[in-house]
Amino acid sequence: MKKVLITRKLLRSNEERMSKLWDAKFNLNDEVYSQNKLIELSKDCDGILSSILDKIDEETINKLPDSVKIISNFAVGFGNIDIKAARKKNVIITNTPDILTDATAEIAMLLILGAARRASEGLKWARNKNWKWSVDFLIGKQLEGSRLGILGMGRIGRAVSLRAKAFGMQIHYHNRTRLKTDLEAGANYHDSIKSLFSVSDILSINCPATPETTNIINKETLEFFPKGAIITNSARGDMIDDEDMVQALISKRIFSLGLDVYKGEPNIHPGYLNQPNVFILPHLGSATMKTRTAMADLAIDNIEEYFKTGICKNMVN
Ligand code: GLV
Repeated sequence: MKKVLITRKLLRSNEERMSKLWDAKFNLNDEVYSQNKLIELSKDCDGILSSILDKIDEETINKLPDSVKIISNFAVGFGNIDIKAARKKNVIITNTPDILTDATAEIAMLLILGAARRASEGLKWARNKNWKWSVDFLIGKQLEGSRLGILGMGRIGRAVSLRAKAFGMQIHYHNRTRLKTDLEAGANYHDSIKSLFSVSDILSINCPATPETTNIINKETLEFFPKGAIITNSARGDMIDDEDMVQALISKRIFSLGLDVYKGEPNIHPGYLNQPNVFILPHLGSATMKTRTAMADLAIDNIEEYFKTGICKNMVN
Protein backbone atom coordinates (compact mmCIF):
# COMPACT_ATOMS: atom_id res chain seq x y z
CA MET A 1 0.00 0.00 0.00
CA LYS A 2 1.27 3.47 -0.89
CA LYS A 3 1.99 5.79 2.01
CA VAL A 4 0.76 9.39 1.83
CA LEU A 5 1.22 12.28 4.26
CA ILE A 6 -1.84 14.53 4.48
CA THR A 7 -0.58 17.77 6.00
CA ARG A 8 -3.90 19.23 7.20
CA LYS A 9 -7.14 17.81 8.51
CA LEU A 10 -9.64 17.35 5.66
CA LEU A 11 -13.39 16.72 5.73
CA ARG A 12 -14.38 13.35 7.13
CA SER A 13 -15.74 11.87 3.87
CA ASN A 14 -12.45 12.67 2.15
CA GLU A 15 -10.39 11.18 4.97
CA GLU A 16 -12.48 8.00 4.84
CA ARG A 17 -11.80 7.69 1.14
CA MET A 18 -8.05 8.11 1.68
CA SER A 19 -7.95 5.49 4.45
CA LYS A 20 -9.29 2.95 1.97
CA LEU A 21 -6.79 3.90 -0.72
CA TRP A 22 -3.55 4.35 1.15
CA ASP A 23 -1.62 4.03 4.33
CA ALA A 24 -2.68 7.62 5.08
CA LYS A 25 -0.86 9.67 7.70
CA PHE A 26 -3.46 12.14 8.92
CA ASN A 27 -3.00 15.29 10.96
CA LEU A 28 -5.40 14.69 13.83
CA ASN A 29 -4.79 18.04 15.56
CA ASP A 30 -4.74 20.03 12.35
CA GLU A 31 -1.45 21.60 13.37
CA VAL A 32 0.42 23.63 10.72
CA TYR A 33 3.66 21.66 10.32
CA SER A 34 7.01 23.41 10.34
CA GLN A 35 9.24 22.64 7.39
CA ASN A 36 11.35 20.31 9.55
CA LYS A 37 8.33 18.43 10.82
CA LEU A 38 6.96 18.06 7.32
CA ILE A 39 10.28 16.59 6.16
CA GLU A 40 10.42 14.24 9.16
CA LEU A 41 6.81 13.05 8.73
CA SER A 42 7.36 12.41 5.01
CA LYS A 43 9.77 9.59 5.81
CA ASP A 44 8.91 6.53 3.67
CA CYS A 45 5.99 8.39 2.07
CA ASP A 46 5.27 8.10 -1.65
CA GLY A 47 3.31 11.33 -1.81
CA ILE A 48 2.14 14.37 0.12
CA LEU A 49 -1.25 16.03 0.05
CA SER A 50 -0.30 19.58 1.00
CA SER A 51 -2.13 22.78 1.68
CA ILE A 52 -1.54 26.53 1.22
CA LEU A 53 0.09 27.09 4.61
CA ASP A 54 2.82 24.52 3.90
CA LYS A 55 5.83 26.50 2.74
CA ILE A 56 7.53 23.96 0.52
CA ASP A 57 10.54 25.93 -0.67
CA GLU A 58 13.66 24.70 -2.48
CA GLU A 59 15.45 23.68 0.72
CA THR A 60 12.44 21.72 1.94
CA ILE A 61 12.00 20.00 -1.43
CA ASN A 62 15.67 19.00 -1.46
CA LYS A 63 15.44 17.54 2.03
CA LEU A 64 12.33 15.47 1.33
CA PRO A 65 12.96 11.72 1.16
CA ASP A 66 13.50 10.46 -2.40
CA SER A 67 10.47 8.22 -2.01
CA VAL A 68 8.19 11.29 -2.29
CA LYS A 69 7.25 11.57 -5.96
CA ILE A 70 4.15 13.74 -5.91
CA ILE A 71 2.92 16.73 -3.92
CA SER A 72 -0.75 17.31 -4.53
CA ASN A 73 -1.65 20.80 -3.34
CA PHE A 74 -5.16 21.31 -1.97
CA ALA A 75 -5.63 24.67 -3.76
CA VAL A 76 -5.70 26.18 -7.19
CA GLY A 77 -2.79 28.46 -6.24
CA PHE A 78 0.62 26.88 -5.72
CA GLY A 79 2.78 29.86 -4.75
CA ASN A 80 3.56 28.00 -1.50
CA ILE A 81 5.64 25.46 -3.44
CA ASP A 82 8.85 25.96 -5.39
CA ILE A 83 7.72 24.13 -8.50
CA LYS A 84 11.06 24.55 -10.30
CA ALA A 85 13.00 22.96 -7.44
CA ALA A 86 10.43 20.17 -7.43
CA ARG A 87 10.87 19.60 -11.15
CA LYS A 88 14.65 19.37 -10.69
CA LYS A 89 14.10 16.67 -8.11
CA ASN A 90 11.50 14.94 -10.31
CA VAL A 91 8.68 15.60 -7.88
CA ILE A 92 5.33 16.25 -9.56
CA ILE A 93 3.22 19.12 -8.24
CA THR A 94 -0.52 19.24 -8.85
CA ASN A 95 -3.29 21.73 -8.01
CA THR A 96 -7.10 21.73 -7.94
CA PRO A 97 -8.28 24.06 -10.72
CA ASP A 98 -11.84 24.74 -11.93
CA ILE A 99 -13.84 23.37 -9.05
CA LEU A 100 -13.29 26.37 -6.79
CA THR A 101 -13.96 28.94 -9.49
CA ASP A 102 -17.60 29.58 -8.58
CA ALA A 103 -17.10 29.67 -4.81
CA THR A 104 -14.19 32.08 -5.16
CA ALA A 105 -16.10 34.30 -7.59
CA GLU A 106 -18.93 34.46 -5.05
CA ILE A 107 -16.49 35.67 -2.39
CA ALA A 108 -15.09 38.20 -4.87
CA MET A 109 -18.64 39.56 -5.27
CA LEU A 110 -19.06 39.64 -1.50
CA LEU A 111 -15.86 41.70 -1.23
CA ILE A 112 -17.05 44.07 -3.94
CA LEU A 113 -20.44 44.50 -2.27
CA GLY A 114 -19.00 44.67 1.23
CA ALA A 115 -16.45 47.33 0.29
CA ALA A 116 -18.78 49.36 -1.94
CA ARG A 117 -21.70 49.39 0.51
CA ARG A 118 -19.59 49.88 3.66
CA ALA A 119 -20.62 46.57 5.22
CA SER A 120 -17.94 46.64 7.97
CA GLU A 121 -19.15 49.99 9.24
CA GLY A 122 -22.77 48.91 8.84
CA LEU A 123 -22.23 45.77 10.92
CA LYS A 124 -20.57 47.75 13.64
CA TRP A 125 -23.36 50.29 13.80
CA ALA A 126 -26.06 47.62 13.77
CA ARG A 127 -24.39 45.76 16.65
CA ASN A 128 -23.94 48.93 18.67
CA LYS A 129 -27.68 49.49 18.51
CA ASN A 130 -27.31 53.28 18.62
CA TRP A 131 -27.86 53.97 14.95
CA LYS A 132 -30.53 56.02 13.38
CA TRP A 133 -31.63 55.93 9.76
CA SER A 134 -30.94 59.16 7.95
CA VAL A 135 -30.65 60.16 4.33
CA ASP A 136 -26.86 60.38 4.34
CA PHE A 137 -26.15 57.51 6.73
CA LEU A 138 -23.31 55.26 5.44
CA ILE A 139 -23.60 56.33 1.83
CA GLY A 140 -21.75 53.84 -0.34
CA LYS A 141 -21.11 53.35 -4.02
CA GLN A 142 -23.50 51.68 -6.41
CA LEU A 143 -22.32 48.76 -8.54
CA GLU A 144 -24.87 49.30 -11.27
CA GLY A 145 -23.39 51.52 -13.96
CA SER A 146 -19.85 51.40 -12.56
CA ARG A 147 -16.75 50.05 -14.24
CA LEU A 148 -15.22 46.86 -12.89
CA GLY A 149 -11.58 46.24 -13.70
CA ILE A 150 -10.53 42.61 -13.47
CA LEU A 151 -6.82 42.00 -13.06
CA GLY A 152 -6.32 38.44 -14.30
CA MET A 153 -9.11 37.20 -16.55
CA GLY A 154 -8.56 33.50 -16.01
CA ARG A 155 -11.27 31.10 -14.87
CA ILE A 156 -12.04 33.01 -11.68
CA GLY A 157 -11.79 36.44 -13.30
CA ARG A 158 -14.28 35.36 -15.97
CA ALA A 159 -16.66 33.95 -13.35
CA VAL A 160 -16.50 37.31 -11.52
CA SER A 161 -17.18 39.10 -14.80
CA LEU A 162 -20.29 36.98 -15.42
CA ARG A 163 -21.69 37.80 -11.99
CA ALA A 164 -20.74 41.48 -12.13
CA LYS A 165 -22.58 41.86 -15.43
CA ALA A 166 -25.76 40.74 -13.70
CA PHE A 167 -25.21 43.70 -11.34
CA GLY A 168 -25.11 46.05 -14.32
CA MET A 169 -21.35 46.66 -14.23
CA GLN A 170 -19.20 47.33 -17.30
CA ILE A 171 -16.28 44.94 -17.47
CA HIS A 172 -12.67 45.86 -18.24
CA TYR A 173 -9.69 43.56 -17.85
CA HIS A 174 -5.97 43.15 -18.17
CA ASN A 175 -4.20 39.89 -18.88
CA ARG A 176 -0.78 39.17 -20.28
CA THR A 177 -2.53 38.08 -23.47
CA ARG A 178 -5.89 39.12 -24.80
CA LEU A 179 -8.61 36.49 -24.59
CA LYS A 180 -10.43 35.10 -27.61
CA THR A 181 -13.67 36.94 -28.35
CA ASP A 182 -15.93 34.21 -26.97
CA LEU A 183 -14.07 34.11 -23.63
CA GLU A 184 -13.91 37.90 -23.52
CA ALA A 185 -17.71 37.99 -23.69
CA GLY A 186 -17.88 41.72 -24.34
CA ALA A 187 -15.27 42.77 -21.74
CA ASN A 188 -12.89 45.57 -22.73
CA TYR A 189 -9.24 44.55 -22.95
CA HIS A 190 -6.45 46.80 -21.65
CA ASP A 191 -2.88 46.00 -22.62
CA SER A 192 -1.38 47.67 -19.54
CA ILE A 193 -2.28 47.92 -15.89
CA LYS A 194 -2.11 51.69 -16.13
CA SER A 195 -4.83 51.67 -18.75
CA LEU A 196 -6.95 49.18 -16.77
CA PHE A 197 -6.59 50.93 -13.42
CA SER A 198 -7.44 54.33 -14.91
CA VAL A 199 -10.95 53.09 -15.81
CA SER A 200 -11.51 50.93 -12.70
CA ASP A 201 -14.12 52.38 -10.37
CA ILE A 202 -13.74 49.01 -8.70
CA LEU A 203 -10.86 46.59 -9.19
CA SER A 204 -11.07 42.85 -8.54
CA ILE A 205 -7.68 41.14 -8.26
CA ASN A 206 -7.87 37.63 -9.65
CA CYS A 207 -4.38 36.96 -11.00
CA PRO A 208 -1.91 34.39 -9.66
CA ALA A 209 0.93 35.39 -7.35
CA THR A 210 4.12 35.47 -9.41
CA PRO A 211 7.31 37.54 -9.23
CA GLU A 212 5.72 39.87 -11.84
CA THR A 213 2.52 40.45 -9.85
CA THR A 214 4.12 40.87 -6.42
CA ASN A 215 3.25 44.36 -5.07
CA ILE A 216 1.61 45.25 -8.37
CA ILE A 217 -0.63 47.56 -6.32
CA ASN A 218 1.81 50.12 -4.91
CA LYS A 219 2.27 53.86 -4.36
CA GLU A 220 2.89 54.50 -8.04
CA THR A 221 0.13 52.30 -9.48
CA LEU A 222 -2.43 53.49 -6.91
CA GLU A 223 -2.12 56.89 -8.57
CA PHE A 224 -3.51 55.42 -11.81
CA PHE A 225 -6.97 54.85 -10.29
CA PRO A 226 -9.83 57.34 -10.41
CA LYS A 227 -10.02 59.12 -7.06
CA GLY A 228 -12.30 57.19 -4.71
CA ALA A 229 -11.88 53.82 -6.43
CA ILE A 230 -12.49 50.54 -4.62
CA ILE A 231 -10.00 47.66 -4.62
CA THR A 232 -10.75 44.05 -3.77
CA ASN A 233 -8.48 41.02 -3.59
CA SER A 234 -9.66 37.42 -3.52
CA ALA A 235 -6.45 35.97 -5.04
CA ARG A 236 -3.28 36.26 -2.93
CA GLY A 237 -1.99 38.91 -0.53
CA ASP A 238 1.32 39.19 -2.40
CA MET A 239 -0.17 41.53 -4.98
CA ILE A 240 -0.62 44.50 -2.63
CA ASP A 241 2.01 46.68 -0.99
CA ASP A 242 0.19 46.99 2.32
CA GLU A 243 1.94 50.14 3.57
CA ASP A 244 1.14 52.01 0.37
CA MET A 245 -2.45 50.77 0.44
CA VAL A 246 -3.00 51.91 4.02
CA GLN A 247 -1.73 55.39 3.07
CA ALA A 248 -4.10 55.47 0.07
CA LEU A 249 -7.01 54.61 2.39
CA ILE A 250 -6.03 57.29 4.87
CA SER A 251 -5.73 59.92 2.14
CA LYS A 252 -9.09 58.72 0.73
CA ARG A 253 -7.49 58.25 -2.68
CA ILE A 254 -9.04 54.78 -2.30
CA PHE A 255 -12.63 54.79 -1.04
CA SER A 256 -12.60 51.29 0.40
CA LEU A 257 -10.89 47.93 0.26
CA GLY A 258 -12.21 44.36 0.33
CA LEU A 259 -9.76 41.59 1.24
CA ASP A 260 -9.97 37.84 1.65
CA VAL A 261 -6.22 37.19 1.40
CA TYR A 262 -3.13 38.66 3.06
CA LYS A 263 0.64 38.66 2.95
CA GLY A 264 1.92 36.38 5.71
CA GLU A 265 -1.54 34.97 6.60
CA PRO A 266 -2.97 34.65 9.21
CA ASN A 267 -1.37 38.01 10.05
CA ILE A 268 -3.17 41.04 8.75
CA HIS A 269 -1.40 44.38 8.40
CA PRO A 270 -2.46 46.36 11.50
CA GLY A 271 -3.13 49.43 9.35
CA TYR A 272 -6.09 47.62 7.81
CA LEU A 273 -7.61 46.81 11.17
CA ASN A 274 -7.65 50.50 12.12
CA GLN A 275 -9.44 51.63 8.99
CA PRO A 276 -13.26 51.71 9.01
CA ASN A 277 -13.48 51.34 5.23
CA VAL A 278 -11.82 47.93 5.00
CA PHE A 279 -14.03 44.87 4.59
CA ILE A 280 -12.01 41.81 5.57
CA LEU A 281 -12.60 38.08 5.56
CA PRO A 282 -10.30 35.26 6.73
CA HIS A 283 -9.49 33.56 3.38
CA LEU A 284 -12.92 32.04 2.75
CA GLY A 285 -12.75 31.92 -1.06
CA SER A 286 -13.30 28.19 -1.45
CA ALA A 287 -15.01 27.61 1.92
CA THR A 288 -18.23 25.83 0.99
CA MET A 289 -18.89 22.17 1.70
CA LYS A 290 -19.41 21.45 -1.99
CA THR A 291 -16.15 23.08 -3.04
CA ARG A 292 -13.93 21.89 -0.21
CA THR A 293 -15.14 18.31 -0.71
CA ALA A 294 -14.55 18.53 -4.45
CA MET A 295 -11.08 20.06 -3.95
CA ALA A 296 -10.01 17.23 -1.68
CA ASP A 297 -11.46 14.66 -4.08
CA LEU A 298 -9.49 16.19 -6.93
CA ALA A 299 -6.30 16.34 -4.85
CA ILE A 300 -6.81 12.63 -4.05
CA ASP A 301 -7.62 11.80 -7.70
CA ASN A 302 -4.38 13.46 -8.78
CA ILE A 303 -2.32 11.24 -6.46
CA GLU A 304 -4.29 8.13 -7.47
CA GLU A 305 -3.87 8.83 -11.15
CA TYR A 306 -0.17 9.40 -10.68
CA PHE A 307 0.29 6.18 -8.70
CA LYS A 308 -1.53 4.23 -11.43
CA THR A 309 -0.09 5.82 -14.57
CA GLY A 310 2.97 7.87 -13.63
CA ILE A 311 1.30 11.08 -14.84
CA CYS A 312 -1.81 13.07 -13.99
CA LYS A 313 -3.89 15.83 -15.46
CA ASN A 314 -3.42 18.68 -13.03
CA MET A 315 0.38 18.74 -13.06
CA VAL A 316 1.74 22.28 -12.83
CA ASN A 317 5.47 21.63 -13.23
C1 GLV B 1 -7.14 29.05 -2.35
O1 GLV B 1 -6.72 30.06 -1.94
C2 GLV B 1 -6.62 28.33 -3.46
O2 GLV B 1 -5.64 28.75 -4.11
O3 GLV B 1 -7.17 27.26 -3.75
